Amino acid sequence: MTITATNPYLKGNFAPVRKEITSDTLEVIGHLPPELSGMFVRNGPNPQHSPIGQYHWFDGDGMLHGVRISDGKATYCNRYVRTTGWKIEKQAGKAIWTGLLEPQQTKVPHGISKNTANTALVWHAGQLLALWEGGAPYVIKLPDLKTVGEYTYHGQLTSAFTAHPKIDPIIGEMMFFGYSFEPPYLQYSIVSAEGKLVRTVPINLPMGVMMHDFAITENYTIFMDLPLTFSAKRAQRGKSPIMFERDRPSRFGIVPRYGDNSSIYWFESPSCYVFHTFNAYEEEDEVVLIACRMSSTNVLINKDTQLDPEGDIPRLHRWRFNLTDGTVREEMLDDVPAEFPRVNENFLGQKTRYGYAARMAGSSEPLVDGIIKYDLSNGKSQTHEFGEGCYGGEAVFVPRPGSTVEDDGWLITFVHDQSSKTSEMIVVNAQEMTTEPVARVLIPQRVPYGFHGTWVSEEQL
Ligand SMILES: [Fe+2]
Repeated sequence: MTITATNPYLKGNFAPVRKEITSDTLEVIGHLPPELSGMFVRNGPNPQHSPIGQYHWFDGDGMLHGVRISDGKATYCNRYVRTTGWKIEKQAGKAIWTGLLEPQQTKVPHGISKNTANTALVWHAGQLLALWEGGAPYVIKLPDLKTVGEYTYHGQLTSAFTAHPKIDPIIGEMMFFGYSFEPPYLQYSIVSAEGKLVRTVPINLPMGVMMHDFAITENYTIFMDLPLTFSAKRAQRGKSPIMFERDRPSRFGIVPRYGDNSSIYWFESPSCYVFHTFNAYEEEDEVVLIACRMSSTNVLINKDTQLDPEGDIPRLHRWRFNLTDGTVREEMLDDVPAEFPRVNENFLGQKTRYGYAARMAGSSEPLVDGIIKYDLSNGKSQTHEFGEGCYGGEAVFVPRPGSTVEDDGWLITFVHDQSSKTSEMIVVNAQEMTTEPVARVLIPQRVPYGFHGTWVSEEQL
């Protein structure tokens, strides 16, 4: 069965674009700050062919949209991540792999799943990696967004690679994990600042779970063993192999950065799901985690009915894990639905005062209608609204070069106007959230709604 445009993720601004373009002179409304020099790159799904069976938003082939900014001018290009699967399907002229909502294929000669590299990006040790949590990263060349190829740390990579690795801003080393539905269910790795994969250890879990993100502090790494579980037995009975088991608790594992399974300490709290963490830090006897918590999720399950009225609604929460007495305190920090949290990554793992997240519009599809700036010191927030009929995505915080003030910088995201069907990249002064963007860069073609982006500074380029 070939799916038609009845799927909401193949319509409107979720629909893929067909052309890869390069545009050297973009119109700018307002002024690009002269200190803002580098490249904003965002990843997201853009299916090359009509999908086989049901399409899930997470299934599409990765496409990168990049805006290079220099001397107050901007250029744009968009390119597919030319993964192995993308090339095979390009040659075939049609889709070969099914997606998340269809039974897993066992007879595809090229492997049971396609690494789409569609989720996120990280710049580390002098290279840009496009990430997908089920497989290896792909190296991307800048500024032309050419795919160099799959990257396995010279064969040292023994697991999948999360879309959300964490870089210690002081030391420069990168922590990542890979999860699997077969033992070992979780592996935890460290890459040195120079880019050498120096350490991989298994972490024991009772069963396979979907683990999208984690967090670091100065001395600890925090894993989230949440009850979105995988069971082959369920699949054999014709049910969805992935299920949210609301009777199982949430488990948070805190391990010293260079620790292993013998030094991890697990905390339990009521069942929930978290796609993304904001940040984590240490305070006296506690490790503090801030993340967007949902009381349950059907996001990855082939089921339209969400029995939990609060299910799939992400809200900012804080957990305090006391390493001395073993207690957990969990509290909601804001009741406004928000996702795609980001901080000034120069302060990752330290106590941050500010955080930024995408405000969810409350629509049936995950539309984002503004950027919230939280002040965690007083519980207040300010919102930059995109305006009537305009929706965006994750906002990436770009620190002003040389500044040590946490919120001194800009927030960058793509925004789409659903009435004019045009897209732009906006630059918002993070200290003046409620004023107009300092610059709006008009993009000559539609930029579909997507996932995560990153900023690569002039220095890094
Ligand atoms: Fe993510």
